[in-house]
Amino acid sequence: MTRVADLMGAWAASAGLGTGDVLRWRAAAHLHDVLRDADPETLRQRVPPALQALPGLMLHGPAAAERLRVAGVDDGELLSAVAYHTVGSPYFGGLGRALYAADFLDPGRSFLPEWRQALRARAPSELDDVVFEIVGSRIRHRVEQGGRILSLTLDFWNRMVEERS
Ligand SMILES: [Fe+2]
Repeated sequence: MTRVADLMGAWAASAGLGTGDVLRWRAAAHLHDVLRDADPETLRQRVPPALQALPGLMLHGPAAAERLRVAGVDDGELLSAVAYHTVGSPYFGGLGRALYAADFLDPGRSFLPEWRQALRARAPSELDDVVFEIVGSRIRHRVEQGGRILSLTLDFWNRMVEERS
């Protein structure tokens, strides 16, 4: 999580955000996977009803956001970023998009190292383009596997396409 937080901090600073927002971006990175190793079926009972049908591996985001909300965190953009970091959301602001990308580009993960390194290099100046590329790649990958595409993910993609047209 520290590696993801370092990426987020650097991107927030590159975007010209102030100290408070840099801290929010870093905090989201530190918190997003806090329940990653918890039992998915236990988490399923703790997320809002609309999200209970998510695949097990994707429940730790909404469950972490719900735990933070109950603990008194009222930063809606941060909660949304944490909740949807594996799925994507058409309602993401800059923080949500950055966390979605930073999680995928974590230097400690070993898949597709050269491509992800190139995306990390571009991210500080072209974050939306990098996010667009990641979403498209992940959807293509799921299609090639014959897997289901969640409607939130498709809506995220379509939102970005609309912004670019
Ligand atoms: Fe995660």
